[in-house]
Amino acid sequence: MKKTLTMGVIILLAIGASLIVYASNVANSKHNMQTHMTGQANTEICVFCHTPHGASPAIPLWNHDPSQASSFAVYNTSATLDGSVGQPADISLACLGCHDGTTAIDAIGNTPSNWSTTGVTYPSANIDAGGKLIGGFALLGTDLSNDHPISITYRDDLDTDLQTNTGATVVQYGNTLQLYGAADPYTVECASCHNVHDNTLQPFLRISNAGSMLCRTCHNK
Ligand code: HEC
Ligand code: HEC
Ligand code: HEC
Ligand code: HEC
Repeated sequence: MKKTLTMGVIILLAIGASLIVYASNVANSKHNMQTHMTGQANTEICVFCHTPHGASPAIPLWNHDPSQASSFAVYNTSATLDGSVGQPADISLACLGCHDGTTAIDAIGNTPSNWSTTGVTYPSANIDAGGKLIGGFALLGTDLSNDHPISITYRDDLDTDLQTNTGATVVQYGNTLQLYGAADPYTVECASCHNVHDNTLQPFLRISNAGSMLCRTCHNK
């Protein structure tokens, strides 16, 4: 009995240790903007994306400056798609505020009192002296025509190879993925596939793509 208990404790400790090693959050991920700069007196990590007051847009309490791009080239809609692709909206536009390279990673609306506006440098070769992404895998740019369509309507009624959605979710093989918008047809956005706060499943994936399960949760192929 005692031995079983000890074993149990050891197993629990082992699970605990593995969680400590593998759990990822904003602080220990590439989405901790503090790791991409030096000389910023303020040490907050949420502030680059969120503010508790006076947010714009209000959901999800957004603090980062909007993309400076006037328009984006989108996935070619004419030939093959059943749904329609719009200009990036909502959550996707929030991601592109940094990932299109038009806006500095630390350009924010509400700056805390000890926020440094001078003397901040960006050691990474992927970021320019003004704080904008200029290279590396994270730079998507404003030409999204060679990227998986986003802000695309999820038309499982027209494209019968799409798994059936239940309201704003697609539930398949025990996985749940989020669609966006107020009513059917909902749209696929960056955050349908990516979890911005957690890089456990790199690169910031919602669910594992082993066996292409991320793809197959939406596509019945
Ligand atoms: C790089 C940008 C970024 C950073 C940094 C960030 N968030 Fe977020 N957060 C987002 C985006 C984008 C959404 C909306 C995502 C969605 O709907 O999946 C969001 C949504 C949320 C939500 C509401 C939805 C949810 O997932 O529960 C909470 C709460 C939240 N963030 C808290 C935080 C906190 C606390 C921090 C700091 C530890 C933080 N975030 C850092 C981008 C960020
Ligand atoms: C405040 C700026 C900012 C916002 C907003 C932001 N990101 Fe990022 N993201 C970054 C930076 C900076 C990196 C790391 C770039 C590097 O290391 O070269 C990064 C890295 C990533 C990576 C990993 C790329 C790699 O090289 O492994 C993914 C995936 C990603 N972001 C997706 C998203 C998605 C999806 C959203 C919106 C839900 C989002 N990001 C919002 C700044 C941002
Ligand atoms: C349909 C799912 C899906 C959507 C929508 C999506 N991504 Fe991704 N993204 C992925 C997958 C899967 C990977 C990993 C690709 C790989 O490793 O080969 C990835 C990789 C990335 C990377 C790492 C660099 C790269 O090219 O490998 C970044 C940065 C990124 N995504 C940002 C975004 C942003 C920003 C959006 C919205 C504009 C977005 N993603 C929309 C599935 C998606
Ligand atoms: C959240 C749901 C979702 C996920 C996850 C997803 N897709 Fe899609 N994908 C869609 C929708 C919706 C369309 C548009 C289909 C249409 O309207 O014809 C699409 C379009 C496509 C197209 C273009 C089809 C065409 O007719 O031009 C390809 C190829 C594709 N997806 C591959 C992938 C791959 C590969 C993955 C995994 C990395 C993936 N998708 C993940 C929802 C998803």
